[in-house]
Amino acid sequence: MPISLLVLENIMREAGSIALRYFNDLDNIAINRKSSRDLVTDADVAVEAFLKEALTKAYPQYGFWGEESGQSDNQTNRWIVDPIDGTHSFSKGQYFWSISVALEIEQELMAGSVYAPALDDLYIASKGKGAVKNGKAISVSTETSLADSMIATGFACLRSYLVENNLDRFARIAEETTGQRRFGSAAMDLCLVADGQVDAFWEQELNLYDVAAGALIAKEASGTVTDFKGNEGVFPKQILATNGKILDQLLALM
Ligand code: IPD
Ligand code: CA
Ligand code: CA
Repeated sequence: MPISLLVLENIMREAGSIALRYFNDLDNIAINRKSSRDLVTDADVAVEAFLKEALTKAYPQYGFWGEESGQSDNQTNRWIVDPIDGTHSFSKGQYFWSISVALEIEQELMAGSVYAPALDDLYIASKGKGAVKNGKAISVSTETSLADSMIATGFACLRSYLVENNLDRFARIAEETTGQRRFGSAAMDLCLVADGQVDAFWEQELNLYDVAAGALIAKEASGTVTDFKGNEGVFPKQILATNGKILDQLLALM
């Protein structure tokens, strides 16, 4: 393993306490728009600045790619960071948002952590070593019936520029499952699959920094991560994570 998970966990927790300081003082922080639906707050910027410094200090051999500050020189071996995944939820004082950090070496995800500070849930995984939530090993659900499954998703359909929005798929899946949930953080959604709290998650038009850490955590918890056709891999523009048992049934609806 190229890094210490303990070092990563400590960095995640410190990033979480920085984020929480802003979260507990929402009335006094700046919330700006990068575009009509894309928010950035003081917290996104501060958490990313901390992560960039801390990760680069601990592991100077790796480059850095953060949603807010962009890419450093070395992008072959790099940290992939979303400082706050779920900024809309964060900005409204809701609890479902997270900090997402993954280590990618030559296009392979080697380690990942997702921390939801307001819930104090910390997920961490490294390739081939399983996934852990708050110190305990986790695995995907055992649900085999799509009809009894609970599915998480996100509504890229609200982006009016997309020709193919989510609504048709959402309707098909809604008719065939127990329920769909929209929690507001793709990184967390993937961890909920890993933890068996939902049986699958799907979304389109995401970016690698939204899903890199969560995808590794879901896979290490024995989940599947594919595109909507079932091709294995992390495809942020079309990501489907499942417990494996309902994969074929869901693919038929995608
Ligand atoms: C967003 C969250 C959300 C997803 C959006 C993402 P952000 O990330 O992951 O769940 O539906 O598409 O952009 O902007 O809060 O980092
Ligand atoms: Ca995000
Ligand atoms: Ca973000």
